[in-house]
Amino acid sequence: MTGSDSGGLILGIETSCDETAAAIVRQGRDVLADTVWSQHEVHRRFGGIVPELASRAHVERILPVLDETMRAAALEWRDLSAIAVTAEPGLIGSLLIGLTAGKALAWSTGVPLIGVNHVHAHLYAALLNGDPLDGQALGLVVSGGHSSLFRLDPGFRPREIGRTIDDAVGEAFDKAATILGLGQPGGPAIDRLARCGNDRAVDLPVAQLGSGRFDFSFSGLKTALLYAVEGVPAPPDRARRAASGRSHPAPEPLDDTRRRDLAASFERAAVRAVTRTVDRALDAHDDTRVLIAGGGVTANSRLRQELALLCERRGVTLRLPPPRWCLDNAAMIAGIAWLRAARGEHDDLALPARAVVPR
Ligand code: KG4
Ligand code: ZN
Repeated sequence: MTGSDSGGLILGIETSCDETAAAIVRQGRDVLADTVWSQHEVHRRFGGIVPELASRAHVERILPVLDETMRAAALEWRDLSAIAVTAEPGLIGSLLIGLTAGKALAWSTGVPLIGVNHVHAHLYAALLNGDPLDGQALGLVVSGGHSSLFRLDPGFRPREIGRTIDDAVGEAFDKAATILGLGQPGGPAIDRLARCGNDRAVDLPVAQLGSGRFDFSFSGLKTALLYAVEGVPAPPDRARRAASGRSHPAPEPLDDTRRRDLAASFERAAVRAVTRTVDRALDAHDDTRVLIAGGGVTANSRLRQELALLCERRGVTLRLPPPRWCLDNAAMIAGIAWLRAARGEHDDLALPARAVVPR
């Protein structure tokens, strides 16, 4: 296919984690159909995603989701210019379901197959239904599985300049919600609760990592929240306890007010950890014209506000997806695949799924 392909209709398939999704996007921009089936109900009672259950749920849902998407766009298979599918990174069993469906469709219809990197696609989500990227950009992906910063040229080739050294931001939100006794996914629950809490009630740490890289760390914040709820653990034996001479005060009871205050204090610290690193990266890359951000945590109301303030202060254009496309979806997969399709690139049926992409 070439950039002048008149249809430019790409079917996107996404199954890297716990959403079974398909979408049709024309020429990397116009979203004609967009179906997302979330597995939250499947995993809720386990307090986290169970990979084997995720794979099985994808097997059950992938064909109905594809049928529904094609029907919503009123298309036949032969109308498609390419079939784009998430090939990396993600849960290996989940990735394989979408990739196998994509390969089977490509083989049976003769339509080219294009493998997509899920994290890069989160960045592209901000460009759906909008203008192409214009100017040198920094890219921020903050999701349940990834927290990374990228340099992006106008041709949209992400080069990673920082990533989390432990938990992803969304993972930290989810664990914080568990500590506070809230449901999963934790991010939206904390977002809602934090709005009516005092964000200065507890001083939680904002990690600052040195070096020339722009890495993040969230495990210290999570532990500090745990200690604020359960109290700081005493040293393991009596002798050391006596030697330390310290006695920690008992934690305040976790009533509704305390829960709200802790949610707000946690959110403030997590968001600061992100914006501070973005600010440092903008200092180091002062030719940046655009900050483009994506991933589930960019649905967070406080992060959206603070990124907007930061970009306004620095004279940088902020490109954020609407909340629907912050979360996992297939429109971003079909969208970013257009860049490769327009360059005449595609993959063959030997395309592997990769759970992890090496640095
Ligand atoms: O991008 P995504 O759907 O999946 C991954 O690729 O990981 O992100 C899901 C993550 C979850 O950790 C969820 O708690 C978080 O995004 N999230 C939020 C909000 N909405 C979703 N975190 C904070 N505030 C929100 N409003
Ligand atoms: Zn994602």
